[in-house]
Amino acid sequence: MDKVSALIVAAGSGVRMGGDVPKQFRTIGGKSVLAHAVDSLASHPRVDEVRIVIGAGQEAVAREALGDRDVGGLIVGGRERSESVANGLAAIDGEIVLVHDAARPFCPAEVIDRLLAALENKNHGAVPVLPMNDTLATGDLLLGAMVDRKRLLRVQTPQAFYREDLLYALAEAGKRLATDESQVLVAAGLKVATVEGDVMLDKLTTLADFVAAERRLATNLISRSGQGFDVHAFEGPGPIMLGGIAIAHERGLAGHSDADVVLHAITDALLGAAALGDIGEHFPPSDPQWKGASSDRFARHAASLIAERGGTIDHVDCTIICEEPKIGPHRAAIRASVAAVLGLAEEAVSIKATTTEKLGFTGRGEGIAAQAIATVRLPAAPARADA
Ligand code: CTP
Ligand code: MG
Repeated sequence: MDKVSALIVAAGSGVRMGGDVPKQFRTIGGKSVLAHAVDSLASHPRVDEVRIVIGAGQEAVAREALGDRDVGGLIVGGRERSESVANGLAAIDGEIVLVHDAARPFCPAEVIDRLLAALENKNHGAVPVLPMNDTLATGDLLLGAMVDRKRLLRVQTPQAFYREDLLYALAEAGKRLATDESQVLVAAGLKVATVEGDVMLDKLTTLADFVAAERRLATNLISRSGQGFDVHAFEGPGPIMLGGIAIAHERGLAGHSDADVVLHAITDALLGAAALGDIGEHFPPSDPQWKGASSDRFARHAASLIAERGGTIDHVDCTIICEEPKIGPHRAAIRASVAAVLGLAEEAVSIKATTTEKLGFTGRGEGIAAQAIATVRLPAAPARADA
């Protein structure tokens, strides 16, 4: 199968949007527009690499916007878009190129599926398009004549090309300016197929587009719950760790790490909500580096995995099950500690306790159990036929 290189052009200065920072480096839902664009392309199974073209002097702001995403070296673009694309093409080697605007942060995987299928069906290029639904007219202060919308299309990106064909078309175009590459291929007499685009791909041009994109992102988040359960047996002398704080007790808890049942149950609840496995998978007890580890690291890691996916933690509720120690006097401190570990408001954390009426292993005072539930919001994963 051909190698697919995605090229994101981010060298514009966003004049129509205005502001101090070019639009591709601004944030939506706490994540930069550019990072959204990178993630939506990089997560497609057919995309082998994602490279980015930035403007001269944009290196620092681009690196800041990208975090630790793997995009290789940043490519410096030019004054005109065609120059930016040409510089990008010189730095990539995929037989197939997806040229994408950084200003379009959300690319559904289905659009890439359709583009590659159309390209590989004997075309030189493929573009996502949407029909024009509004009435169209010429005019200025006074309304002019209607324009037949049936003949018009809204052309989006990413646009798929064979690298060789795009290089040929750009050379043919010379200094002639185009707002996208599909036009360059059409002008060179090459065949560009149209596939169905998506409103999620609409370009951010003005502040109003940013407001709409924030709203779109919020409605794209779905609520998910996860549960966690953990037990540690009493062994040796205290104190014991519960929710990240040390509580004086004559007996301690046995465990490979610091045996904090509360943070372990909460960590598993968070991982469960995101369907990211369990604590043992992320921090194997067989691994000596977690011996005696402070469990807030585990909980912080689970929280960061959710944040990296563009999610938020809405609420965590934990029930501690034991006869001793009495939790009541420590409840507020445990709650504050868990909230601090997860970076949440205290109102988003609930700590409860119960005995089991002297029944079972907790009733006999052999150990402490904890169960937790976490409610998080995560971007809805698009349904995929090949998943
Ligand atoms: N772009 C680029 N190099 C240029 C011009 C534009 O890489 N010389 C990129 C932009 O960063 C953007 C995409 O091409 O991701 C689409 O361009 P546009 O929406 O016009 O962005 P800007 O040119 O930045 O905005 P404006 O036209 O309002 O100044
Ligand atoms: Mg522009």
